[in-house]
Amino acid sequence: MVRVLMVCLGNICRSPLAEGILKSKVNTETIFVDSAGTGGWHVGELPDIRSMEVARKNQIDISDQRCRKFSVQDFTDFDLIYVMDSANLRDVLNLAGSQYEIDKVKLILNEMEPGMDKEVPDPYYGGNNGFDLVFEMLDAACEVIAKKIEK
Ligand code: 4NP
Repeated sequence: MVRVLMVCLGNICRSPLAEGILKSKVNTETIFVDSAGTGGWHVGELPDIRSMEVARKNQIDISDQRCRKFSVQDFTDFDLIYVMDSANLRDVLNLAGSQYEIDKVKLILNEMEPGMDKEVPDPYYGGNNGFDLVFEMLDAACEVIAKKIEK
């Protein structure tokens, strides 16, 4: 079992999409995918309606997801921790307790363009266009991740 955690700030826009997209590309009997946020403002809530809509437009249902906060236990529970931007990276790495845990954490777009440190922009305060762009970026990144972890 490979265990993959997607992390953003709120766990209502980007990481729920990343979770849903990766689940759609892998065998979920052998690959466990979850998501969490570094901030706790929306714990227990559904994903943002705009994320649910862009997912549904692409035949993915993420309405079963509920927001939760990232915790140090996640370093034990997951093999790979993908973050969306440099603020998420800093916040997650601040909680890491060892080099082994640090090595699990990666900027998700580096899977497509290694070392470029590109970020998935936070679409929360923007319009719907932002969500289409985020979907495209995450779809491309998850395609690479799926190939890698199913090997
Ligand atoms: P996300 O977007 O990190 O992609 O889920 C955000 C959602 C909510 C907030 C910030 C970012 N917020 O400040 O409530």
